[in-house]
Order: sequence, then C-alpha cells, then structure tokens
Amino acid sequence: MDIPPSSGVLMRSANESRMALRKGAYCRHLALMGKVRIAISHILFYEGESQMELKTTADINRFLRSYLASAALGTALEHRLFWRLADDPASATRVAEELNIPQQRCRCWLELLVGLGLLERRGETYAPSSVARDAIIGAYTPETWSFLAREARERYPSGTDLITHISHPESVWVAQGLKAPDYVNQMIENPERAGQFTRMLYELHGPLAEKLAENLDLGNVSRLLDLGGGSGVVSLALLRSHPNLTAVVVDIENVCKVGREIAAGTSEATRITYEAADFTRNEIPAGFDLILECDVGIYTVDLFRKLRTALNPKGRLIIVDWLERPGQELTLQRLVDRFMSSLGAPGFTTLTVAEVRDRLVQSDYRQVTELTLETPAIHEASGIVGPVILQAHR
Ligand SMILES: C[S@@+](CC[C@H](N)C(=O)[O-])C[C@H]1O[C@@H](n2cnc3c(N)ncnc32)[C@H](O)[C@@H]1O
Repeated sequence: MDIPPSSGVLMRSANESRMALRKGAYCRHLALMGKVRIAISHILFYEGESQMELKTTADINRFLRSYLASAALGTALEHRLFWRLADDPASATRVAEELNIPQQRCRCWLELLVGLGLLERRGETYAPSSVARDAIIGAYTPETWSFLAREARERYPSGTDLITHISHPESVWVAQGLKAPDYVNQMIENPERAGQFTRMLYELHGPLAEKLAENLDLGNVSRLLDLGGGSGVVSLALLRSHPNLTAVVVDIENVCKVGREIAAGTSEATRITYEAADFTRNEIPAGFDLILECDVGIYTVDLFRKLRTALNPKGRLIIVDWLERPGQELTLQRLVDRFMSSLGAPGFTTLTVAEVRDRLVQSDYRQVTELTLETPAIHEASGIVGPVILQAHR
C-alpha cells in the first residue's frame, strides 16, 4: 500500500494478517512470549499459530492443567535454567542441588519441560532442545526472559478461585484483598525494577525502533520529544539515522536514570537528554518539531491538548501503538489480555484507532493520518500485526 505523500510518514507495506494484537497500555511486550507458546502449542492449547480452538476431549482436559505447565516454564526462565543447561548439561540430581529443589520434584519439573519440547534428556542428562535454543536462548537475554516470566507470575492471582470472584462487581484483586500490579507505580517504588523493566524493553523494542527509523519521515524535524520514551530505544534509533536530530526523553526518574546509562554507551549520547516528569501532572518541555508517543497507552484529550502547546507551529504528533480496529479477529493472546484487564476493571474496553483519532480531532489537531507499520520480524512469530501509526499536525 502506498502512502499519501502528504502524510509525511513512509510505509513499506501493510501487513494484512488477520491475527491481531494486544490490549491497551503497556503489557504488550508479553505478547512476544508467544514465540515460546507456539513451541508448546500442540501440547497445550493452540492448533496452528493464531487460533485457540480446542478440538477434542483430550485437548480440553490438557488445557485445564496448562496453567501449571505455564508456571513450570516461567520458573525455568526465572531460574535461568535453559542457559545453565546450555553451558553444561546436567542430571536432575545436580539441578536439584544447585537450585535447592527436592530431588523428585525437580525430576518431575525437568520431565515436564521435556514434555513441552523445551528440554531433551540423554541418559540422565538434561539439555535445552533446539526449540529452546532458538525460541528462548536465541531470542532474548536471560534477564529479559526472567522479567517477562516474573510479570506473568505476578498476574496469575487474577485467575485464582475465579469461580468465586468472577461475579464480583469490582476488581477480582480487591475481592481477594490484593492490589493489581501497576507497572509505573512498581517502577516509582523500586528503582531496581525500573532498571530491569527499562533494559528489558530496550531489548524488546530494538527491532521496532529500527523499523520506525527506516520508515518515519523526519524531514524538517530537528527537535524530538519522546514522551514516555523509556530507555530511549526509539529516539536512539532515530538519532542514528538522522545526524542533525536531538531528542528529549520524558519519563519517570527511575526510568530516566537507566536511560541515561544506556545512552552514555552510544555515539548519540550528546544528542539525547532525559527529563524526569509525570507528564500527566507536571509541565513538559516545549519547542518541538515532533512529539512521539510509542507504546505509552495514555491518549486523553487533556494530554493531547498539552502536547499541542509543546509543538512548534508546523509540528507533528506521532502515536505508535497496537490499537484495535473494530471487527478485527483477535488472537488468543489478545483475548486473554482483555479478559485479564476486565478482571481488574469490570467495565474495561479497549481503545480503538477511531477513538484515538476522534480525540486528536477534538484536541484541535489537523490532517490526522493512519498507517500500519510493517511487522518487525520478531513480532511475526507471535502473530502480532505491526503497530498503527497515527500522525497529527498541530
Ligand atoms: C511501555 S513503555 C514504552 C517505552 C518506550 N516508548 C518504548 O517504546 O520503548 C511506557 C513508558 O511510559 C512511561 N510512563 C507511563 N506513564 C507515565 C507518566 N505519567 N509520566 C511519565 N512517564 C510515564 C513508563 O514509565 C514507561 O517507561
């Protein structure tokens, strides 16, 4: 599909796949775990890459127990088991001693991972399978996988005793006397977590950032504001391909601190700064030719109006996000994410492209154009269609 020249954004091709993406706000990166889920698809639940159909009585019986298989995989990732065994295949006895797990339980755990196709046993010795080497070890660092598994684990309680809590008129977390995890608050309260999150997303969003740098037309842009820019992964990619560009990343202080460390190790360090602010409450800097919001999930009229005043007269706002379109067929993963959100907030609805467009128009932006970015390769594995790009002129 060609792009109208007036859009100012270049798009190579629209991925017409019917497989859709995930819910609003953050959490999207969890979709990338689909890579591993595909590996275990035929054992657990998927038939094919995107469908959730359970076809037989045996499928249904297996599916009822799949939460424990998922926990077994998550625990292996948090223990960095695949990397440990890749370096030095070991027996169940040795793994049990090293990880302080009762012997027989450890054997059952490793055998389950064999059943999932992620480990291979040769005699008494366990090693990662070729699937685990490609889809886990070859995909991300142990730190990133460990963080992703931890986040998934922290969300398990929303499904605990669901038969009791599904009727609760408010959050099922509250019904259990628990607090739903809020990733921004978690990072405000815990600098170490902010570091892990920010480095994880720096890795996960690398391919997306490269794709944006290849596809966004930054003609006439010399000052960029990367709102909720996190590590600065997108800004850094844009700076690499635009030598006269400078960027300001606005994010919470604990994230900015890590972003500065990451940027310091790059050749773009002198052209990027990180300013700590809560952009929904605090003032934000002004005088930008372009403001970018990539995977931030906060798209209110109030914020759009505030951003408009931070733009130069010919400035543009670009939103990059996996927004839904009505009638889009949703993957199991997205359906699970939506259901999880509804457990936290019973009235939860997803934000569509049309709704964000309307809010931009309401906030007095002009020439709102919509594009779909070609899917970065790593997302394809989980059936994720490339994000929507919305561009609006001040
Ligand atoms: C999912 S991350 C995306 C980061 C980056 N744009 C990227 O694509 O890698 C969203 C970021 O927005 C930041 N954020 C969310 N709400 C914020 C707020 N009210 N003020 C400042 N930063 C915020 C988070 O701290 C997080 O770093």
